[in-house]
Amino acid sequence: MMTKTIRTQVGILGAGPAGLLLAHLLGKAGIDSVVIDGKSRVEIENTVKAGIVESPAAEVLAQSGVSDRIYREGMKHDGIEFHFDGHAHRFDFADLVQKSAYLYPQHEVLKDLIAARIRDGVEPLFEHTAEQVLDASTSQPRIVGKTADGEAFEIIADVVVGADGSGSLARTAVSGKQGGFYREYPFAWYGILVEAPPSSDELIYSRSDEGFVLISTRDKNIQRMYFQCDPLLDASTVGDDEIWDRLQAGVAGTELKRGPIFRKDVLRFRSFVAHELRKGRVFLMGDAAHTVPPTGAKGMNLAFSDVLWLNQALRAFFTTGSEELMEAYPENALKRIWKAQNFSYWLTTMLHIAPDTSEFDKRRSLGELYSITQSRAAQTYLAEGYVGWDYGVSDWK
Ligand code: PHB
Repeated sequence: MMTKTIRTQVGILGAGPAGLLLAHLLGKAGIDSVVIDGKSRVEIENTVKAGIVESPAAEVLAQSGVSDRIYREGMKHDGIEFHFDGHAHRFDFADLVQKSAYLYPQHEVLKDLIAARIRDGVEPLFEHTAEQVLDASTSQPRIVGKTADGEAFEIIADVVVGADGSGSLARTAVSGKQGGFYREYPFAWYGILVEAPPSSDELIYSRSDEGFVLISTRDKNIQRMYFQCDPLLDASTVGDDEIWDRLQAGVAGTELKRGPIFRKDVLRFRSFVAHELRKGRVFLMGDAAHTVPPTGAKGMNLAFSDVLWLNQALRAFFTTGSEELMEAYPENALKRIWKAQNFSYWLTTMLHIAPDTSEFDKRRSLGELYSITQSRAAQTYLAEGYVGWDYGVSDWK
């Protein structure tokens, strides 16, 4: 069979939030790109993922012309609650930092981004699975792969971007498959999706001697809740009664509204940053470059920072030929990556109890929670990180 050859300026692996947003922003500057993904459009639009969009990320979606649906249909969250040691404390984001976060599930962001690509006449190539990224160190890097029908394809580009998630293929070409800084955690989250009305107007993060509980939501009819568990636990072995007991124990003052549980899963925790974010003309962004544990919901919001830095660099390259900002991309992106790594690590370790935690550390971490909730300065620090630091890149409009 003949190989289908596609030529473009930027070949992007992965139709996730990072790849699609980059394609959208480059398109606004007249730079053409091709986004490929092994999955189908239906699968991408229907996989339920995390739900919190930071204020600066919402601004990027609305002001770059992707969609303002997040402001119309997303749920604005002006605060969160921490429960610990029999206390409930509310962080009032609107008062502390005059900003909010938005509950807007990631698959809704993906629907908006895919619709924007189609509106602009450049539909992503779904069911196109990349098999190799080649010639990274030349001026014509390539992606080769196969379609769902078994047809071979080749994308020849000036630049290739790996936005293909934590199991990234592009990373092999840039950094080596395992090339990164890691941290593992001795716990995971047991997550459920339940058909019920919300139990609380705002998210509740709870820390008790039994561990962590999070009461989150997806919309008026579907709720997302988690409790801390062993990373090796098989999700199907836990019965509904035990699940409700564990969740309810974490939020004693709030009566959880129950309903049919229609998904149970275990989310493993890992902090990871690839050693290299660039090799020649191949770049990594989003989960291909780094992963954070889910506490604080930084994943997609952090990916947007990479996108803005790379968009700036590629716009400069394609308009002036200068590689200066492409060279600076890793250094620029890594500043926020390590800030977000620290924020996610901090929230995670403050709110979970590791199996081997000493009695000293259990008491010390309560000291930390009281220090934060009793200081306006510390609450402001948490609120700034939670609703999202400014991206610090302005030329994406
Ligand atoms: C979620 O709804 O999945 C979620 C919300 C907030 C977090 C983490 C996950 O901090």
